[in-house]
Amino acid sequence: MSISSVKGFRDVLPREAARRRRIVDEAVRVLTGYGYEEIELPILERLELFSRSVGQTSDIVEKEMYSFEDRDGTIVALRPEGTAAVARAYTEAGLARALPVARLYYIGPMFRRERPQKGRFRQFTQIGAELLGRDDPEADAETLFLIADLCRAVGVETARIDVNSLGDAACRPAYREALAAYGRERMASLCPECQARLARNPLRVLDCKNESCREATRDAPIMLNYLCEPCRSHHDRVLELAAAAGVELTPNPRMVRGLDYYCRTAFEIVAEGLGAQDAIGGGGRYDGLVEALGGPALPGIGFAFGVERLDMAAGARDVAASPAEFLVAPIGEGPATVALRLAGRLRAARRSVELAPSTRRLKAQLKSADKAGIRYVIIVGDEEIASGRATVRDMVERVDRPGCFPLEAAAADIVESVTRTG
Ligand code: HAM
Repeated sequence: MSISSVKGFRDVLPREAARRRRIVDEAVRVLTGYGYEEIELPILERLELFSRSVGQTSDIVEKEMYSFEDRDGTIVALRPEGTAAVARAYTEAGLARALPVARLYYIGPMFRRERPQKGRFRQFTQIGAELLGRDDPEADAETLFLIADLCRAVGVETARIDVNSLGDAACRPAYREALAAYGRERMASLCPECQARLARNPLRVLDCKNESCREATRDAPIMLNYLCEPCRSHHDRVLELAAAAGVELTPNPRMVRGLDYYCRTAFEIVAEGLGAQDAIGGGGRYDGLVEALGGPALPGIGFAFGVERLDMAAGARDVAASPAEFLVAPIGEGPATVALRLAGRLRAARRSVELAPSTRRLKAQLKSADKAGIRYVIIVGDEEIASGRATVRDMVERVDRPGCFPLEAAAADIVESVTRTG
């Protein structure tokens, strides 16, 4: 019996890989333009890193983590997200003093044991960015501007950016209590999961997809009505700056995010037509996170996009294939070594070359060049060996050029002779 991949884990085949490469390249170009630098983080972290940041009662920590006890007794987990690890790395490297404001981005696989469905996988790739050391609303507005830029650059022009404020440690407790009280009065209409959430993490009740929970919480209190004065003015200023910069935001007072470290500005980037999993990205401010992980009291704001969902939202637009420039076609065993050396010289000069098997007939070789879209076929048969010069078939002009260049010519001379038209 053949072996299949693990449920929720998938292969990225060449066409998709090419599309993802383009998305990542464009995203990196945009991020670099905003001064972000790359950070590479481990895939395995201590479980505690996530339980103390993402939150003990979050779905991710409660039921979605791939965690195990390592042989030395350390409890470790495959990372479900990148923000906590950036905060840890930043603190561990002592960067807070050297780099009081840091802009860091990361690209890599994340792991969540969710129920697989369209757009939802157990291993997926995020492009994430974190701005540490800034707590002013201008940082939030610039981040939103960056998000809009990034969406455009990767070809997702129609994405909507939902925003909300989640308040802070001063104003959220009263809101939590009000929401919990509201929920307790409607206990019978809530699903068992939300009934349990009410006591531990009432905000998550607003996120439930269950129809009866949505109905029961339709008029639930919203955080915006409970913001303290500093959170209120921060939020107003973010909206004002974003509007001035032409970033279109959609207020969504029910959006609470699934990770507990957020405060104040929170957002989700939503694309049309993706089905239930339509959030292509999400993020927000997390001013208490670095300190909660034992680092300095340092604010932060960031976001992450899911590469699979960006690809879907961009319409899985195929990237034009880039065929090799030359096909070197040896005809017979004798010419094979000459062809191998010739291809080697061209490749050393950074030209892209496909080398055909010497056992294949010339007709088949030309056909495969045509199919692959390779313009120049360099033919090395017995006649060419005898004359010491290669024949070239230009697949576009449909002409043969016998004796086009000496077989031992340098790469630059070969390219010159082969690409000369007429
Ligand atoms: P998140 O909303 O949990 O935020 O994930 C960000 C994005 O990752 C989602 O919008 C989605 O596109 C993608 N994603 C999440 N889970 C899956 C999955 N199972 N399959 C496919 N794609 C998925 C975070 O992870 C935060 N760390 C973002 C952040 C950065 N906040 C501040 N800085």
